[in-house]
Amino acid sequence: MTDNIVPFDYERLPEMPDGVYTAPLRRPAHLAQDWLEPAQRRYTGDENAIWDELYHRQMEVLPGRACTAFLEGTERLDLGRGGVPDFERLSAELGALTGWSVVPVPMLIPDHVFFWHLANRRFPAGNFIRTRDTFDYIQEPDVFHDVFGHVPMLTDPVYADYMQAYGRAGWKAMRHNRLKALGALYWYTVEFGLVKEGDALRAYGAGILSGPREAVFAIEGQSPNRVMLNVDRVVRTDYVIDDLQPTYFVIESFDDLFRQTVGRDFDRLYQALGPGFTYANTAVIDVDDVLHHGTLEYHLRGGRGSGAKPV
Ligand SMILES: [Fe+2]
Repeated sequence: MTDNIVPFDYERLPEMPDGVYTAPLRRPAHLAQDWLEPAQRRYTGDENAIWDELYHRQMEVLPGRACTAFLEGTERLDLGRGGVPDFERLSAELGALTGWSVVPVPMLIPDHVFFWHLANRRFPAGNFIRTRDTFDYIQEPDVFHDVFGHVPMLTDPVYADYMQAYGRAGWKAMRHNRLKALGALYWYTVEFGLVKEGDALRAYGAGILSGPREAVFAIEGQSPNRVMLNVDRVVRTDYVIDDLQPTYFVIESFDDLFRQTVGRDFDRLYQALGPGFTYANTAVIDVDDVLHHGTLEYHLRGGRGSGAKPV
């Protein structure tokens, strides 16, 4: 994902050339171009209690399903000490480990700004926390998804480097107009990735780790496919954002993930890519190294909203 052709200055927010698509997000008047909130929100007692309940619910489910790096990260950062973690303390502790910090943003932010923060080892985290009405599922990432799901992994030095490289790769993908392809890589690694630990599979993706249903489904379910990660295949694969995944991609290790991505010539890869996806998210194809060929039962029965069991 390195860039050998156009030197980027990662210190400054990039000017995107005309013709590069950026999502039409309206920047709130009180924010500067970096979209950072001046300070983290002050949470109410009930909001802090929601964090604690979510934390304890996940910690019942995750041992034996989350990867070691994640579980160690939650301990090293002491995310269960009570209430929504303070970003300044978190940043000091994380900074001492891998040089990353956590910065508050109001909501989803524009892609090129998100990439810019990652490229500078800043992880933008949603400032708000879900309510009890949306306890089990929210579409926009809140502070629990962002901090509990993503931040512990940033204590792993190789993974921390991968995330920074991903941010740098983002601008290149935008210039090639291949953000969808790079987005699929993010989806199937950072959000829904599985990693081998000995003979077992464990989750490292934040989308899995921040919800109780998907953690069980991804590791033990018979429905989903589990396939070894192949970058050329993944960047051509469609994904769903509002249901459990029909297919998970597995890495040997974080070194393996780094080698397969940061070591690749993405200019050549983008030149060979069409603008759309080639493979459905349910597909198993010839080149796949398949660990588990899923029954797809959950999705065939209708998936979310149908009453189908996540088996
Ligand atoms: Fe996320």
